[in-house]
Amino acid sequence: MWLTSALYVILSICAGSIAWSAWARRRSRYPPGPRGLPVIGNLLDLPRKHEWKTFTAWRDTYGDVVYVSVLGRPLIILNSAEVAMDLMDKRSSIYSDRPRFPLVDLIGQEWNVGFMTYGKPWHARKRMILGKYTKAEVPAYRPAQRSAMRTLLKNLRDDPENFTEHLRLHSGQLIVDVTYGLSIKSREHKLIHLAEEVMDSITIGLTPLFWVFNPVPLLQKLPNWTTGGWLARTIKTWQHNDRRLRDEAFEQVKLSLDNGTARPSYTSSLLEDLRPEAGSQEEILIRDTSAVAYGAGADTALAAYTIFFLAMFQNPEVQRKAQEEIDRVVGHGRLPDYADQPDLPYITAVMKESLRWHAAAPQGIAHRLTVDDEYKGWHLPSGSMIVPNVWGILHDPVIYPDPARFYPERFFRDGKLDFTGRDPASVVFGFGRRICAGEHFAQDTLYLLVAQFLAVFSITTVDGGPPPPVDMTSGGVSFPCPYKCLIRPRSEAARVLLEQVLMSADDQS
Ligand code: HEM
Repeated sequence: MWLTSALYVILSICAGSIAWSAWARRRSRYPPGPRGLPVIGNLLDLPRKHEWKTFTAWRDTYGDVVYVSVLGRPLIILNSAEVAMDLMDKRSSIYSDRPRFPLVDLIGQEWNVGFMTYGKPWHARKRMILGKYTKAEVPAYRPAQRSAMRTLLKNLRDDPENFTEHLRLHSGQLIVDVTYGLSIKSREHKLIHLAEEVMDSITIGLTPLFWVFNPVPLLQKLPNWTTGGWLARTIKTWQHNDRRLRDEAFEQVKLSLDNGTARPSYTSSLLEDLRPEAGSQEEILIRDTSAVAYGAGADTALAAYTIFFLAMFQNPEVQRKAQEEIDRVVGHGRLPDYADQPDLPYITAVMKESLRWHAAAPQGIAHRLTVDDEYKGWHLPSGSMIVPNVWGILHDPVIYPDPARFYPERFFRDGKLDFTGRDPASVVFGFGRRICAGEHFAQDTLYLLVAQFLAVFSITTVDGGPPPPVDMTSGGVSFPCPYKCLIRPRSEAARVLLEQVLMSADDQS
C-alpha cells in the first residue's frame, strides 16, 4: 500500500518537474520579466494601482521589453520609444489589432473604431475620421473652440471652486459641437448625460481584470434570480444607451440638414459631401464615426486639461513666466489666439510639457500582435497584448533629464523651440496605424486653453503656502485627485479684459 502511495508521489513530482522545465524552457525564449507561477503566471505581480510606475520599475530590472503572462495570456510591455516605434510603427501590419474586451462587446460597441479588430471595416472608418481631422482640416473647428473657451472662462469667473466640472463641460461641449453642430450650455443636457453613462459602462468593460478574465459566459449563465433580474436589466440599459448615443444626435443632424438649419460639423459636412442613401453602408459609416468622437476624445481631453491645471498649481514660477510671455507679446487688450502661437513659444512648451509630465492615458491603449514575431532574439507570440508604457517612456531620464520636474525649458535649444526626437505628442497619442485620430485637434484645443486661461487667471494655493502633493487616479485615463485651490483673475487688468471678453461674447450670442 505504502509502496503504491510513494510511487504516486514520485510520479507526480516527476510530471510536475517536467511540466515546470518545459514551461521554463519556453519562458526563456521570451523577453525577460518577473518569473510568475505555473497556471496563474504573473497574476500576482500585476499592480493594483499606478500600473505605469510598476512597469517603469520593471524597465530598471528587466529592460525595455518586458514579458508577463496572466492566466496563459501573454502581455508584452514596451518601455522605450525606440522599441515601441520598432514594433508598433515599423511593423504596424502585424501590431495593429486590438485585444478583445468581451464586456465592451457585450455593451454593443462593435461599431466603435477604437475597439474594432484590425481589418477592412476598421480601415474604412479610420480613413473617414482622419480625413476630417488632418492638420489642414483642424482650423475649421476653431470657432467652436473659441466659443467653448468663452463658456469656460465665464464659468471659472462665476464659480471657480467647481473648476473640474467646468472643464468637463468644456470637453463635452466642444466635441458635441464639432461633431454634430449642436450647442450645449450645461452638463444637464441629455446628450452629455447619455454619453457619460455609456462612458461609465465602457470603463467597467475596460477594467484590467477583464483583459484576462472573460466575465461574459458567467454573466450569461447566471440564473436571473441570483441578482433579482438586476444584472439583465443593467446590461439591457447599457445596450440601449449605446444605441441611443450612436443614433439620436445623428438623426437630429439629418433632420436639420433637411430643414436647412444644420450648423457646420463633422457629420453635416460628410452627409453633404457624400450624400449617402438612407440606411446605406456609407451612411452607417458616417453615423458610426461621428459617435466615436465623444468616447475617444472627451475623457482624454478632460484629463489633459486637469493635468495642465495641476501643473500650474504646483509650479507657480512656470505660471509666472508663461504670463510674462503673454503680456510681452499680446499685451492686456485682448486674449491670445491661434495667430499668436508662433510668437508664444513658452506657451507651446507648457502645453507639450503638460502632455509629457503626466500622460492622460499613461499606458496608451493596448494593441494585439496577430502573428508570431522575433525581436532582438526574443520570441513574441501571436495573440500577445502589446502595452506601450507611455508614462514610462515620457519619464525616461535619458531623453527627459529630471523627468518628474515640470520644466518647459527642456524643449528649447539655442533659445528656440526644438522637439526633435522628444516631442511628447509622438508618444501620448499612440502608435502605428492605431494612432489617435484627434491628435492635431486635441493639441490645438489645449494650446488655446493654456494661452487664454493664463492670460486672465492664476491658480494658487488657498492660503498662499507651498502647493501640496496631489495623487493621480489609476486606470486607462488618469486624472489628478481632488485638491483645493484658488482660481481668480491674476490682476486688475486681467479682470477688466475678462469682463470685456465675456460682455462681447454675450452680445454675439
Ligand atoms: C488629449 C486628448 C487625447 C489623448 C491623450 C488621446 C489619446 C489616444 C490614445 C493613446 C489612443 C490609442 C492609440 C493607440 O492605440 O496606439 C487614441 C485613440 C483614438 N483617439 Fe484619441 N486622444 C485624445 C483626443 C482625441 C479626440 C479629441 C478624438 C476625436 C476625434 C480622438 C479620437 C481617437 C480615436 C477615433 C481613436 C481610435 C483609433 C484606432 O483605434 O484606430 N482622440 N487616442
